[in-house]
Amino acid sequence: MTRFAQFAAIALSLAAPALAACDYGTHLNPRSESVPISTFGYTGLTGPLNWFGLNTTANKMCATGKFQSPVNLDSSISTVHGSSVTFKVDSYPFGSEFENLGTTVEVPVNGSLVSDGKTYKLAQFHFHTPSEHHKSTAVVAFLIDLGLISDPLLTAVFASVGMIAEPGSTTTTGPLVFGPLENHLHSNTIFRYSGSLTTPPCSEGVSWHISTKPLQIDEITYQRVRNVVKFNSRYTQNSLGEVNLLQNAANEL
Ligand SMILES: *[C@@H]1O[C@H](CO)[C@@H](O)[C@H](O)[C@H]1NC(C)=O
Ligand SMILES: *[C@@H]1O[C@H](CO)[C@@H](O)[C@H](O)[C@H]1NC(C)=O
Repeated sequence: MTRFAQFAAIALSLAAPALAACDYGTHLNPRSESVPISTFGYTGLTGPLNWFGLNTTANKMCATGKFQSPVNLDSSISTVHGSSVTFKVDSYPFGSEFENLGTTVEVPVNGSLVSDGKTYKLAQFHFHTPSEHHKSTAVVAFLIDLGLISDPLLTAVFASVGMIAEPGSTTTTGPLVFGPLENHLHSNTIFRYSGSLTTPPCSEGVSWHISTKPLQIDEITYQRVRNVVKFNSRYTQNSLGEVNLLQNAANEL
C-alpha cells in the first residue's frame, strides 16, 4: 500500500506505568536536566545494520526479534476504529520544551492513551524523516504527507526548529493545542499491532497505533525540519512473526 510510504511521521510515545519497572534500558522515563545525545545513528557503523554490533547484549532484539518495527502497513495489519481508544494530550498555551537529541527532535508533553483495556501515560513526541514509527510501550503515530497547508499543530511545533540545529540544544515550541489531533485519531481507522522500539535496544511488546489518515505539512515547514533532522528512519522490517532480516542474512553467509 504505497499510499502509506510517506516520508515523515510524528510519534507520541507512551508507557504503561505498571510495566515501567520492567522496561530497563529504554527511554521510558528518564528526563535528565541535560539532553541525552544518542550514541547510535542512521549511517555507517552506527546505523541500523550495526545496532546489534554496538552492544550485542543490550541490542540483541535488533538482529533477532521477529516482531520488529517499522513494518509495511498493508492489509495484513489489523485495524480498529479510532472511537475505540481514548487519546488525551495536555495543551501548552505557552509552548513546551523542544530538544535536539542528535537522532531526532523531541517535545515532552503529558497525556494518556486508553486502548484495549490498558492505560498508557504519554511522555514525549518525536519526528522522523522519512516515515517510520517510534518507541516505548505504546506509540501513537501519525504519518505526514506534503500538502498545501500544514496542520496547525505541526506549524506550531516546528516554528522554532531552526533554533535547535545543534544536537543537545533546546528551545521552546509555539503554543500547542492537541484537540484537533485527538479528534483526528478518534475519527479515523487506526492500524494497531504489537511491534518494537525502532531505536536500540529494539525491545518488543510495543503497542503501535498509527492513524490510517495522514496529517499534512507544507513544503516550507517540511524543509525547515529537514535542515535540522537529517535522515533518521530505520529500514522496513520483515513481516510480523517472520525471521529477522539480519539473522536471515547472517545465516546465508
Ligand atoms: C551493553 O549493555 C549492557 C546492558 O544490557 C551493559 O551492561 C553493558 O555495559 C553494555 N556494553 C557496552 C560495551 O556498552
Ligand atoms: C508532566 O506532568 C508532571 C507531573 O505532573 C510534571 O512534573 C511535568 O512537568 C509535566 N511535563 C510536561 C512537559 O508538562
